[in-house]
Amino acid sequence: MIVLGIETSCDETSASIVEEGRRILSNVILSQEKYHRPFRGIVPEIASRLHLEKINEVVHQAIEEAKIRKRKAGSGNVNAIAVTVGPGLVGSLLVGKMTASAMGWIWDCPVIGVNHLEAHLFSALLNHPKLVPPFVGLVVSGGHSDLVLVNDFGSYKVLGRTRDDAAGECFDKVAKILGLGYPGGPLIDKIAKNGDERAINFPKPYLHGSWDFSFSGLKTAVLYYVKGLPNRSVRAQKPSQPAALDSQKIYDICASFQSSVVDVLIAKTLRAAEKFKLKKIAVGGGVSANSLLRKRFLDASKKKGLELYFPSKELCTDNAAMVAAIGTYKLKRKLSDENHSVNPSLPIENWR
Ligand code: KG4
Ligand code: ZN
Repeated sequence: MIVLGIETSCDETSASIVEEGRRILSNVILSQEKYHRPFRGIVPEIASRLHLEKINEVVHQAIEEAKIRKRKAGSGNVNAIAVTVGPGLVGSLLVGKMTASAMGWIWDCPVIGVNHLEAHLFSALLNHPKLVPPFVGLVVSGGHSDLVLVNDFGSYKVLGRTRDDAAGECFDKVAKILGLGYPGGPLIDKIAKNGDERAINFPKPYLHGSWDFSFSGLKTAVLYYVKGLPNRSVRAQKPSQPAALDSQKIYDICASFQSSVVDVLIAKTLRAAEKFKLKKIAVGGGVSANSLLRKRFLDASKKKGLELYFPSKELCTDNAAMVAAIGTYKLKRKLSDENHSVNPSLPIENWR
């Protein structure tokens, strides 16, 4: 089965052709980053306008790169279309959904709505042919930090989610506090390599007794540290005046902050694997590109004899290949649902 995936939930316009849910024939990703950077965050209105301007071009390029003939009513090579219908920005989602519906009608092929988080959950599938459920899934993106028991395709139990700032959001906000720019995750990842993670003892919000995540307190601890405000959660430090933000201090703050986020994500995921007796873990979402997370997770899972699966870096952030991949599994169960409307806060749902 050959599926065209379309992804426009946030600030990437992407289209991809995937075969049998595993083999990427093309994956075109057009980032809007430079348009949002001056605003130090995503501006929904700009995002949807840019999707609208670029979507036809991006889909066309994906088809060309996959060398698949455009389907003329009823013939051709694309068997179905999978499109992200939530969660995400409503205007952006609508551009993808309307494009998919129109193309499905012209090509006379089924259209399936896909949950963006579910797509991230399975993105490692495209790099690891052996990966099949059950596994513990961790989705860490700009809007979500979800810990999920993946029993099978379409059968999930969400153990925990973010109570406030998602992991990626926290990276972005801390970068803003430090005046580093947007998006913060890749910037902090890079410059933290020059810092000492033991320099500042930022809190590690484990939330013992719960599978949920909460990173807003950590973000506030960074803010207080930078402003020199009294802060009970930064132990053994008494900054009575704003921290002098020379380069080394910024590196140290980034390294210490990043290490706190990474340690919490890894500890809770490993604990879930142990508790539910699962040997496999799959990670996805923009933050799964983080180099410290990848390294430390790999070391920790090796020690525990667990199999750990990450997507390749270009499949960590938003892309349509992951949408086509999980869409294929839904389509195989004949779940095409052209009337599936977009839902900006769509939760992870079971479909089997
Ligand atoms: O999955 P994604 O592309 O979009 C959403 O679905 O939200 O994730 C984007 C998030 C941003 O917050 C960005 O700062 C973060 O992923 N991110 C990273 C890294 N690369 C992207 N965070 C930490 N380290 C990275 N290397
Ligand atoms: Zn995403």
